[in-house]
Order: sequence, then C-alpha cells, then structure tokens
Amino acid sequence: MEIRIREASIKDRERIIAFLKETSPDDYIFYVLDAWLNDKNGKVLIAEHEDKVVAMNHFYAKDTGEGWLEGARVHKDYRGQGIATKLAEYSLNYLAKMNVKKARLVTNSKNIAAQKHLTRTPFKLVSRWIHPHYETQSYVEVEPWKDFISVENFLMQSQVFASVGRVLHVYYSWFDYNASFLKQRISNGEVYFNGEELLIICPSHRSNNSMSISYLECNPVKLLDFFNIAYSLARKNDQAVEMLFMIPALDEYRNKLMKEKIDFSELLLYEAKIG
Ligand SMILES: CC(C)(COP(=O)(O)OP(=O)(O)OC[C@H]1O[C@@H](n2cnc3c(N)ncnc32)[C@H](O)[C@@H]1OP(=O)(O)O)[C@@H](O)C(=O)NCCC(=O)NCCS
Repeated sequence: MEIRIREASIKDRERIIAFLKETSPDDYIFYVLDAWLNDKNGKVLIAEHEDKVVAMNHFYAKDTGEGWLEGARVHKDYRGQGIATKLAEYSLNYLAKMNVKKARLVTNSKNIAAQKHLTRTPFKLVSRWIHPHYETQSYVEVEPWKDFISVENFLMQSQVFASVGRVLHVYYSWFDYNASFLKQRISNGEVYFNGEELLIICPSHRSNNSMSISYLECNPVKLLDFFNIAYSLARKNDQAVEMLFMIPALDEYRNKLMKEKIDFSELLLYEAKIG
C-alpha cells in the first residue's frame, strides 16, 4: 500500500475536514485548523492513500526556538502501519532544517496507542503533569510578587523544577524556562511567591479570556488555596476568566486531589533531541 506524506496547503482544507469528521468527529482541531494551515512557523502534514487523506499532524517552531508537535491523527483502518511514526520523522527533519534543536509533544497517560507509537520515534518521556478538573474557584485577596531575582533563584535551586526538566506550561504546551517570560509575568502581576512557594500564571495565547498555570510549587496541603490564588491573580479588572490548571505530577499533589475528590487527568511530556 503506497502512502504518500506531504505538506498540506489551504487547498487541502476541505479534505482534511472530511478526514477528521470520519476519524475524530469531536476534535479540537476543527477550531484551530485554519490557523495551523496559515502557520508561518510550521506545517500541517497529511498522509494520503489513493487520493484520500488518511492521517495528519501539525508541527511548528516556537518563538523560543523549540519545536512542538501536535494533532497526530491516523484513520482507524490505517493504524499500526507506522504512519504516525513517519509523520513525526518528517516533522523532526523539517524542524532540523529550521535549525531547531529539540522538539516536544504531550499525550494523555491513558493513550496507550500513542505511547506505543512514540517508542518507535526519537521522543523520550521527560515529565508527567496533572491537569485537575477544578471548577469551584473562589476569590481571595492576593498581592502579586514584584521581584524577579528572588523568583529566578528559587526556580534554579528547586528540585521539583529540575525534576520536570525546567519547563513552563501555557495552554497544553511546554517550553524551556527563559528569563524574559518570567519578567513579563512579574510585570503583569501574574506571579505569587512567599519565599517557599511559587505560582506563575500566563494568558493562554490560543484561547481568549483564558489563563494557564505555568508553574506551581507549594505545600500540598495548600494546593486548593493556591488554585484560588491562581484564579484571583487572573481575575483582573473584576473580569471572570477560565483557569487551566496544570501542575507537576507529584505524588503529594495526586494524593491531595484524590482526598478532595477532585478529578484530574495526567499528561506525559515527551522530548526529542534534533540533529
Ligand atoms: C496514536 C496514533 C496517532 C498512532 O498512529 P499509528 O500510525 O497507528 O502509529 P504507528 O503505526 O507509527 O505506531 C504503531 C504502534 O502503535 C500501536 N497502536 C496503533 N494503533 C493502536 C491501537 N488502536 N491500539 C493499541 N495500539 C495501537 C501499535 O501497537 C504499534 O506498536 P507496535 O507495533 O510496537 O505494537 C493513532 O493510534 C491515532 O490516530 N490515535 C487517535 C488520535 C491520537 O491519540 N493521537 C495522538 C495524540 S498524542
């Protein structure tokens, strides 16, 4: 069976939509496909068999210089034939030509097919993250932290931060720590720090009126207090926002969430060195 992989253009839009309707009808990709097809820093790849789209993915280089892969989808009748692996390889080769040195992707811990597929690629598991489905946020008075150096020192000495690979999160995507990101958060009033516990939040660039937790390190007993602090820091000008909770997958956090009967999913962050 000859499967052809190529870079998609806006002309392929309707065929990709037809593929998604059949393969993954509730997919978030319907909402982002146009942005992906017009992406100046990346590509949508499609795999075709006899003029039919049978698989896709999207990759791009972030402003921070790292690659990100997402949206791998293979038609049910075409799985287990190495197509997703070829899409990942094509993406990494393309990123190499863009001088990108590493790329990442994320998958759900329950997605066994994706994890098996990733063992065939250069991607290695680097850290685990917890996404609590916490909705009962309440407002607390909180003063944003204004000093950059103390927060950077804390992060550089933190074992938890080292254990997750010194990455930060924004809207289901991760990138290497960089000082200018932290300075921006501090100047926006999006950091809470008390010398021992740290919370960083950030607007979710892909979604209006939504903020993400970029990093949280706190006493597990106070986890829900920190969720409320995150929500309160985000709720500027009295405007309600959605908060995307994402925290390092520490056992202590997991136990606390289970004790409080708060549902959560677990995400696996993978990284591939390029070149
Ligand atoms: C995950 C996915 C992209 C893999 O695509 P693929 O082309 O089948 O993957 P590959 O052929 O490159 O890798 C095949 C490996 O995945 C495993 N696999 C593929 N489909 C599977 C399935 N339905 N159930 C269990 N394992 C599966 C195979 O066991 C194989 O490993 P093995 O040969 O060592 O046993 C595909 O299953 C899919 O589209 N899933 C739904 C969307 C999704 O989960 N995307 C990934 C988000 S990170």
